[in-house]
Amino acid sequence: MPLDPSSDIRRVVAGRVEEIPPGERKLIVPFRGRAGIGVFNVNGDYHALRNLCPHKLGPLCTGRVSGRPEAVAPPSSYAGEPEIERDGEIVRCPWHLWEFDITTGQCLVDPKMRVKTYPVAIEEGEVVVYADPADLPPQPPSGAAVPATMARGRSAE
Ligand code: FES
Repeated sequence: MPLDPSSDIRRVVAGRVEEIPPGERKLIVPFRGRAGIGVFNVNGDYHALRNLCPHKLGPLCTGRVSGRPEAVAPPSSYAGEPEIERDGEIVRCPWHLWEFDITTGQCLVDPKMRVKTYPVAIEEGEVVVYADPADLPPQPPSGAAVPATMARGRSAE
């Protein structure tokens, strides 16, 4: 029997495909008890990034999305506006303006830095993000008694 997708605690539905058209994003805060994620549609492909900048923990996914000036010549040599490449693939953190590649999470300012990414799948018209099991809160083993702190709030029957 196939697994019921709703039983996978890693699975988070970000929304319907049409809710996040190309060039748009959706923030999900919090995300499985963490700081949240941004789900971006870059030219029809979906990417999910942690909404926590690895520089100083700014809300990265709320930053401006754009491209980068083409780096073939120094700015002083431009006759007009520089060509923009990779438009829509770069998010700029609002705190200190460091740039990150949305498709890989790679920081373009410091090559040693990367923001966490999450797998995204399209399932029956829904954009589904899968949390990293390491990010999930500890789960009680199956069949174990529910700790008193988790049972709080349940009504007595
Ligand atoms: S906190 Fe994001 S660039 Fe500094």
